[in-house]
Amino acid sequence: MKITSNARPIGLIGHPIEHSYSPKLHNAIYEKYGINNVYLAFDVETEDLQNAIGALKVLSFAGFNVTVPHKQEVLHYLDEVDDEARVIGAVNTVKLDNGRLIGYNTDGLGFISSLNNRGHNVKGMNVLVLGAGGSSRSICVYLAKEGVSMINIHNRTESNARALAEHLNKHYISTEVNVVGKSGLTDLNPDLIINTTSIGMWPHTSESPLKNYVFSPNQLVVDIIYNPRQTKFLKDAEDAGCCFVNGLDMLVGQAIKAIEIWTGDIVDYDFALKVLST
Ligand code: ATR
Repeated sequence: MKITSNARPIGLIGHPIEHSYSPKLHNAIYEKYGINNVYLAFDVETEDLQNAIGALKVLSFAGFNVTVPHKQEVLHYLDEVDDEARVIGAVNTVKLDNGRLIGYNTDGLGFISSLNNRGHNVKGMNVLVLGAGGSSRSICVYLAKEGVSMINIHNRTESNARALAEHLNKHYISTEVNVVGKSGLTDLNPDLIINTTSIGMWPHTSESPLKNYVFSPNQLVVDIIYNPRQTKFLKDAEDAGCCFVNGLDMLVGQAIKAIEIWTGDIVDYDFALKVLST
């Protein structure tokens, strides 16, 4: 990769950061598309967050990604936050625009666009979402924005699911959001099922968030886990004849959307997926 003296840096701030796929993914994309940026990861502890953001600003970064544990805290230091990121309450992408810091959340946005890229349109779908944490929140906001007809949230801690459902019902009146317990799962017949929990993630690869569930072959099944590439949950869905999508697509989707925000460049999904597979 050739880095010229006028290459603008783009950062990633989080803690810890060393296992992130983002530097590899972004720099390969910049090289392929001739984008004059360089992507660098910085391990930043919470007490240094404000100073770190100030430094990125002074050094004329084009923008930066924000990851765990700073996605909520970063909101305090931004000049503007887009509507969806505000409803989600978390920002993972910041653009520096003439000295102004503008926040976005490309987790949910990337999730939707990665499904679109595979030819799936969620509009009007009845959706079952497993989990009610930060990832679920980002995805649900964009599902509602895209006009799914119903979101059913199933979560270990039902009070967390209720809080998320209430929040979504307040902001998106045309999507009905319900909480569903274990016994209600069999009657739902959703078009789309999404696992946002960490159940099935390496090394607990024999676990599934839906035990003894009978999938229908017409269902689209998505897991946001990318290690392993095919979780037990997705294997069960495949065995039942379902269409399925793994977590690499969302990972790639959020990066592609961030690049679009920073540079205006439209990146090919298949190229980005190939970068992560090598
Ligand atoms: P993320 O940002 O990845 O969404 P999170 O905000 O910590 O992470 O949320 C994790 C989600 O996975 C939550 O819905 C959590 O359920 P609780 O609300 O009951 O904590 C769910 N989760 C994590 N580990 C789980 C497990 N072993 N069994 C069931 N649900 C689990």
